[in-house]
Amino acid sequence: MATEQASRRASELRDEINQHNYLYHVLDQPEISDARYDTLVKELVEIEEEHPELITPDSPTQRVGAEPAEGFEEVRHPRPMYSLGNAFDDDEFMAWYRRITGVLEREDIDFVCELKYDGLAVALRYENGVFVEGSTRGNGMVGENVTLNLRTIKSIPLRVRNGNVPATMEVRGEVYFPKSKFQLFNEERVARGEAPYANPRNTAAGSLRQLDPRSTAERPLDIFVYGLGYVEGAEFPDNHWETLETLKELGFKVNVNNSLLRSPQEVLDFCRVWLEKHEELDYACDGVVVKVNRLDYQDHLGVVGREPRWAIAYKFPATQSVTRLLDIEVNVGRTGSINPIAILEPVVVGGATVQHATLHNEDYIKAKDLRIGDWVVIERAGEVIPQIVSVITSRRTGDEQVYEMPKSCPSCGQDVVRSEEEAAIYCVNASCPAQLVRLVGHFVSKGAMDIDGLGERLVQIFIEHGFVNDVADLYTLKERKQELVEMDRMGETSVSNLLEAIDGSKERPLARVLVGLGIQHIGSEVAELLARQFTTIDKLTGATEEELSAIPSIGPKIAQSVVAYFRNESNLSVIEKLRAAGVRLEDEAREVLAERPLEGKRFVVTGRMERFSRSQIEGRIKELGGAVSGSVSGRTDYVVVGADAGSKLADAERLEIAILSEDEFLELIGEAV
Ligand code: IVH
Repeated sequence: MATEQASRRASELRDEINQHNYLYHVLDQPEISDARYDTLVKELVEIEEEHPELITPDSPTQRVGAEPAEGFEEVRHPRPMYSLGNAFDDDEFMAWYRRITGVLEREDIDFVCELKYDGLAVALRYENGVFVEGSTRGNGMVGENVTLNLRTIKSIPLRVRNGNVPATMEVRGEVYFPKSKFQLFNEERVARGEAPYANPRNTAAGSLRQLDPRSTAERPLDIFVYGLGYVEGAEFPDNHWETLETLKELGFKVNVNNSLLRSPQEVLDFCRVWLEKHEELDYACDGVVVKVNRLDYQDHLGVVGREPRWAIAYKFPATQSVTRLLDIEVNVGRTGSINPIAILEPVVVGGATVQHATLHNEDYIKAKDLRIGDWVVIERAGEVIPQIVSVITSRRTGDEQVYEMPKSCPSCGQDVVRSEEEAAIYCVNASCPAQLVRLVGHFVSKGAMDIDGLGERLVQIFIEHGFVNDVADLYTLKERKQELVEMDRMGETSVSNLLEAIDGSKERPLARVLVGLGIQHIGSEVAELLARQFTTIDKLTGATEEELSAIPSIGPKIAQSVVAYFRNESNLSVIEKLRAAGVRLEDEAREVLAERPLEGKRFVVTGRMERFSRSQIEGRIKELGGAVSGSVSGRTDYVVVGADAGSKLADAERLEIAILSEDEFLELIGEAV
């Protein structure tokens, strides 16, 4: 592409991507599919790769990328970032209200009520509309420069949207880690042998202080903007409410629950509503911030110490409590992971009674030096499982017991295995009863053998009756038809249907069987890869770690897990039983293609496909000897186009290159369906 044309297209794409970014991340109202969005970004990346001189610092492609920092520089805040005084009940709020009406000598005061987000305060500086520096609050006077990390947060505009763009402006807000993502994030950390974070707030803080912005980018941080630090070179409203409106127009994410209220009674009502509802939010919220709306009143009220008198935080009751650790028990998960659980003296935390807390693994217990009998601080944040925050060592009597993880599985007694790189311990016995319910439930589930009418509840009953001792026993249930019919709530028809569904599952492709076996780290994608590579379970059973690791996208962790699984005698005997029952343990071998029909042909694949993913199609092209490239040029032979194809389709048309639909492509390679 000529530079001039590229420059024009790049700027078009940036505007379009920024707009969709804004719709998705700020307004939460996406207008296009993710695939379409990815296509736009990919096109911009390609132009920028070809013309690096066109890259602008506020390009949406430039959110991540810089090299890790050695540390964070200090930033002195031009205006201090204050903290807030607290009110813990209505009386304390009314006392504040009376104080300010006294100072202002009037009662007709408007308030802006905002939620108090429990994250991390940051200041964002914009020069002529471009985000140039972001810092943490620190001690209120001096914070840390975390610009590169803040740039990775998609709801922070790198350039403000239209409107009255000031020469300089500093916007303030709270960065948070969504609650819905928190638990999964911690589980992944624990699986990697890293210490879990105590709560979403600490996680947000930890994430913003990553030295490598690429690590921050992997974390789903978000922000709510709640005020203006200062502004120069533009007229801004003379009250807080309209300031927030202006910030919204400039493209900042302002919370939709903010309210402009006219009396202290309305404020107390707002606080009551959110006291009831705040747990439903996807972000931690520990109160309501009440702010005097008019800026001249704010100035008049001023600041005392580090707390402005014009605002107050109405705090919700704490979500932390103190209780005793009575015992530690373990349960066994589907993959055999042995998970310690704290048994607590029941205690009310943030409105709910809590008697269990997750302890993740042995390292976690050791790191906290938890002992049975300890007094502990526990915390509950929303739906997040309660966590032990700390031990109150000063309350120890000396009678506390150090806990040892079991050496054998509490359910089947077989020795546990500690995985080398993970902190977790596992029971690797495929016939372990506690794992069995979980495992069989997984085997019959949609993503695996997909046996209609069979769920974990029924599985449990079969196991309790001794009908099922491993997944292969499902296929022997038909020999007990009469017993099943006589069982509670199981009629003749439903039993027949069930047995038919079980029988039908014997023909599932190998990948489904591999998923169903519940081998650690083997999800559907890896299973597909393995099935494609090995085509029969016997070949897979014989594979070595080296052979497995040689397959692209299979790392040492997966390789080890597969080898360990097939080394276990009980697992092998389950596989033999499946074979004897008639379960198909192989796929039809794809004939190895002697000739490479697509040799020398160059393909571009674009748009959203119906039957296959883009990468599957690209993989097939390569298998057949063809080459795949990212952009259309005069040397391209074919462009395979799916739905919502963008500029590449246009390029192909312009350059008169053969365009294939997904079906036409399949026809070309002789695999039409
Ligand atoms: S206004 C004086 N608004 O609370 C103005 N702060 O205790 C202070 N916070 O450091 C900031 N939600 O991190 C304001 N809607 C909100 C807030 C909020 C949370 C935090 C902020 C600040 C701390 C003060």
